[in-house]
Amino acid sequence: MWTVDKDVDNLVTYPQIIEAAEKLKGNEVVAFPTETVYGLGGNAKDDGAVAKIFAAKGRPGDNPLIIHISNLGQLEHFAVNISETAQILMETFWPGPLTLVLEKREGVLSEKATAGLSTVAVRMPGHPVALALIEASGLPIAAPSANVSGKPSPTTAAHVHEDLDGRIAGIVDGGPTGVGVESTVVDCTGKYPVILRPGGITREQLEETVGKIGEDPALTDSSQVPKSPGMKYRHYAPDSPLYLVDGSAAAIQQLVDEKRAAGMKVAVMTTEENKGFYRADIIIACGRRSKLETVAESLYDTLRSFNETDADIIFGEVFPVAGVGEAVMNRLTKASGNPIITKNL
Ligand code: TXA
Ligand code: MG
Repeated sequence: MWTVDKDVDNLVTYPQIIEAAEKLKGNEVVAFPTETVYGLGGNAKDDGAVAKIFAAKGRPGDNPLIIHISNLGQLEHFAVNISETAQILMETFWPGPLTLVLEKREGVLSEKATAGLSTVAVRMPGHPVALALIEASGLPIAAPSANVSGKPSPTTAAHVHEDLDGRIAGIVDGGPTGVGVESTVVDCTGKYPVILRPGGITREQLEETVGKIGEDPALTDSSQVPKSPGMKYRHYAPDSPLYLVDGSAAAIQQLVDEKRAAGMKVAVMTTEENKGFYRADIIIACGRRSKLETVAESLYDTLRSFNETDADIIFGEVFPVAGVGEAVMNRLTKASGNPIITKNL
């Protein structure tokens, strides 16, 4: 574990960063903080390094990785035909929680990193530790979220340790991440940009910048095959079944009472505003409903914390599908894997 204060100057010369970068150069894999979630990084040009990432996570080989860069000069080595719209998006949102899918230049990156696709997903993370580490390594860094596949993504070094200790060369601890949900993935290879995965940059922000934005139909229609391979897997799931309820706190309380009467230990995933209302065995608040960014920030930690309880079942509140609420509801729906219960009293 390398502990790094993200606010110090000239991180790129720090011994801990240099040491972690040396591991990357030696084709070892290292976890590091980004502004969204912790990533598990490896040299994107080396098949062996990329294979270690997939092995440590237990990730299916058909799910390509995002390539992380620290300066725009790295991009032209492995991406071609970058549209004007893509350039505007980069200028506006990089460094930051936006991933762009671009046409790939063949023969530069490990084929395993891109799962053999003709496109490549790229982002420049908005976290000083991530930028310094990539810069110090001098490499394009392939990095999925640093969790075991299927688990909630890690937003602290402790989460990474819990999942991957003993399977990777080290963890750079730069504190909790901040945004809390992963980057927005936008396909820039067509006529207009298309959202493949909602995330830290909102649809509204994208529309304001480049006008028309499409979305992968699979985001709202589960019978369609997602264009982002990772979106087809169940994800982020706590150990106990999670049911999302679209209804008032009183309606959720009624469901809690029914299950408790049947002898179950019942948990509620709520918000600061509502937590005083419920009577249940376990009550965990996930941020403030009045500021959805706080819900995003604590989402994965909250999902993980249910695993430390003896809950048999979890009922969760839903959130408006607007702003970062779109990413929050996308992740919650995947974590649940069950249809949303609509309940009116
Ligand atoms: O915020 C994030 O994006 C974090 C941090 C570590 O940067 N990374 C992350 O990576 O969430 P991962 O591997 O957990 O998710 C990457 C997503 C997957 O759904 C994958 O299928 C998709 O991006 N993806 C990667 N390359 C793609 C491509 N060429 N075309 C479409 N989707 C792609
Ligand atoms: Mg992930």
